[in-house]
Amino acid sequence: MIAAIEASALADWAGSEALVYPVANTAHVIGAVLLVGGIGLLDLRLLGYGRRLAPQTLAEVVTPLALVGFGLMVVSGGLMFAADARAMAASPLFAAKLGLIGLAGVNAVAFRSMFRRLDGGIPPGARILAAVSLALWLGVVVLGRLVAYF
Ligand code: HEM
Repeated sequence: MIAAIEASALADWAGSEALVYPVANTAHVIGAVLLVGGIGLLDLRLLGYGRRLAPQTLAEVVTPLALVGFGLMVVSGGLMFAADARAMAASPLFAAKLGLIGLAGVNAVAFRSMFRRLDGGIPPGARILAAVSLALWLGVVVLGRLVAYF
């Protein structure tokens, strides 16, 4: 699988065109800002910060931005992965990062199915999942950055 990615035209393009990696890396950071900025703000609101903001309205405003950010991260992250597939596949930090992304996704789906609307007060369970979400997404950001160093 990794050998096939390495041998692909996409890997060739991502690894040899001087602009592809920096553009993908920049898009990745913009995606992180949209995703963690959006969902992180909602998580903080659910944890009690910024009580003047209506949680349901905030959820409706930030969720599309976070989804666009996540889409941007998957595409740009896939390109960066293809450019350096063997090293990434061997990195325990990268594997841990993908694991946290999976957990954050499960947490988000669980949240949306358990708490469909947020205008009737914030149940304690929603606060717990919001804290988990914040910790997981920040963990993904930290691991994403550290992959370059370890
Ligand atoms: C499935 C989706 C993703 C893939 C395949 C992916 C892949 C990658 C790759 C290959 C790198 C370059 C690592 C290096 O520096 O050598 C990277 C960097 C990074 N990723 Fe991701 N990533 C994904 C999603 C995410 C998400 C959801 C976040 C955060 C919420 C994130 C945060 C970061 C950060 C902060 C960096 C470092 C950027 C920099 O400082 O240059 N990634 N990612």
